[in-house]
Amino acid sequence: MYKERIKHHFNRAYKTYDDYCAVQNDASQRTLELLMQHEFHFEEIADFACGTGESTLRLIKQIRYEKCYAIDFSDKLLNVAENKLPDTVRCILSDFDTSLFPNDSLALIFCNMGLQWSLNLERTLSLFNRYLTKNGYFAFSMPVTGNFPEMKTEFKSLLFSSEQIIHILNNTGFKLVAHCGYKNIQLFESYCYALKSLQRTGANFSPKFNNKGLKRVNVREIFVEDCMVPKLTYHIGFFLCQKRSL
Ligand SMILES: C[S@@+](CC[C@H](N)C(=O)[O-])C[C@H]1O[C@@H](n2cnc3c(N)ncnc32)[C@H](O)[C@@H]1O
Repeated sequence: MYKERIKHHFNRAYKTYDDYCAVQNDASQRTLELLMQHEFHFEEIADFACGTGESTLRLIKQIRYEKCYAIDFSDKLLNVAENKLPDTVRCILSDFDTSLFPNDSLALIFCNMGLQWSLNLERTLSLFNRYLTKNGYFAFSMPVTGNFPEMKTEFKSLLFSSEQIIHILNNTGFKLVAHCGYKNIQLFESYCYALKSLQRTGANFSPKFNNKGLKRVNVREIFVEDCMVPKLTYHIGFFLCQKRSL
């Protein structure tokens, strides 16, 4: 049920996602730059939680690859990706927690701003680890603790700190190659526009939002304090790791 609701929110954003995903695009470029400092030529690669294919497009334009897969569980977003991506990319409608690839088959797993939606990060990362070839790379970004300090806790999804993510990576068979974090502050005309920016990228799901529905919540109820300039501060972590040899 919970996953169905997440999917529903993303599917509803299929027409607006590409016009509102500046933060996600910036994050995928930074993740790629971290990766390309170490490696840029791979055989089989996969972009999990590819959404409308923006991250996949950026990835395939900047690295060299033999085969590429783009995976997402939101059919409407994946449909946009299919129309945008070249034939060299195979789009697959699937949950990232469903087993999809043989063991030791992918040289790179990329996942931009998708893993915060995993219901069990340890399980998702263990599966990703199985897919990777020996020393295969895993590059990803995701919001971390401290994200959106402007919003009250009950309206936000629970997030891990970078230290917790590194601990989980270590437990699931990865060695950390590089990691960094940054803050991206987005300014808006009003609080209502701030919330709409989340809704238009499908990222407005939280149990409380979901119970009341965005239209029925008082925008001022959601924010911690009345700032002169309404803003959302994203705290994003970037991680590059490799499958640890046994
Ligand atoms: C913020 S979007 C990122 C999309 C893309 N990577 C980008 O950079 O624009 C998050 C994506 O995660 C996908 N997603 C969330 N949970 C998922 C799951 N369990 N399996 C597959 N995709 C999932 C959503 O459908 C959505 O497309």
